[in-house]
Amino acid sequence: MLSKVAARSFSSSASAAYKVAVLGAGGGIGQPLSLLMKLNHKVTDLALYDIRGAPGVAADVSHIPTNSTVKGYNPDQLQEALTGADVIIVPAGVPRKPGMTRDDLFNTNASIVRDLAKAAADYAPKAALLIISNPVNSTVPIVAEVYKSKGVYDPKKLFGVTTLDVLRASRFVSEVAGTNPVNEKVTVVGGHSGITIIPLLSQTNHKDLDAETRDALVHRIQFGGDEVVKAKDGAGSATLSMAQAGARFAGAVLDGLAGEKDVIEPTFVDSPLFKSEGVEFFSSKVTLGVEGVKTVHPLGQLSEYEEELVKTAKETLIGNIKKGVDFVAQNP
Ligand code: NAD
Ligand code: LMR
Repeated sequence: MLSKVAARSFSSSASAAYKVAVLGAGGGIGQPLSLLMKLNHKVTDLALYDIRGAPGVAADVSHIPTNSTVKGYNPDQLQEALTGADVIIVPAGVPRKPGMTRDDLFNTNASIVRDLAKAAADYAPKAALLIISNPVNSTVPIVAEVYKSKGVYDPKKLFGVTTLDVLRASRFVSEVAGTNPVNEKVTVVGGHSGITIIPLLSQTNHKDLDAETRDALVHRIQFGGDEVVKAKDGAGSATLSMAQAGARFAGAVLDGLAGEKDVIEPTFVDSPLFKSEGVEFFSSKVTLGVEGVKTVHPLGQLSEYEEELVKTAKETLIGNIKKGVDFVAQNP
């Protein structure tokens, strides 16, 4: 079987030169993510911004001999960092400590994301915006509201990065099944926190797991972030696996922008799937294209167990999304 990459065909009109901005580039995720974006050959201009430390990261990464220029930007240079960007990746904000939920980060991260979104809407309104900052279920709606208020919202360009859940699902399934994780493709839908994370195991080769094993596996995928928070013991949450996840997702967005075919990743987007039930954003498989989101795929056939998980997740998501929307309404 052809690999996904080999199977993709190329559009002759597509560009392969992109400016990527990382906002929060000095952080635990930002630094390795910047490194990985430096290794992506579609990136010709890498703009690294943070409220502290970005020039140092940029100087370091810039010595790697790939075909891109790298520049670091200080807090007074956000406009310059963003201008001309095709893709903006946002890992800015505080991470969890043991005992916290992602929602506990809302009070700090909501205003950070709102302010960065305002700048992105002003200086690079057509860029694809990839939100890593937690709580993703709320920060993505915050960005949408900011863009709407400035009249530049394009739902095809806004993504919540849920790829770490997909990576964990592959890894954890392989540990249970004794398989090579590279060959384990698991679609993860819903959102990015606890019970809103729903791995669709019934759509894999492992649909016949006994209920106890299945429940434990689903729980581990849903709460994988907590394992890292606990192990880091106050020093933060996942950074290295997240950087790999962010680079994979940003790479897929760039592949889509470049006109490659059949670029599909699960991601949290403005979704038609459950809008009639009041769920404005939902993660499912999305085909990425030259304008960002090309197709939001339906969930496909679910087991009864998964139907129930989706039902519960929708209730939580409605609250998480409303929290983001209300925040911007009250704190424009
Ligand atoms: P970190 O504290 O190591 O780094 C955050 C960086 O953001 C710091 O360098 C800080 O200076 C910077 N920052 C803060 N305010 C800023 C602003 N206004 N503009 C620009 N930069 C700013 O944290 P981290 O471990 O890199 O995590 C970052 C965020 O990513 C957290 O909210 C975390 O919860 C989230 N996260 C999400 C996922 C996911 O799957 N989506 C996975 C892991 C972590
Ligand atoms: C993760 O899933 O690792 C991230 O969302 C960080 C966290 O707080 O768990």
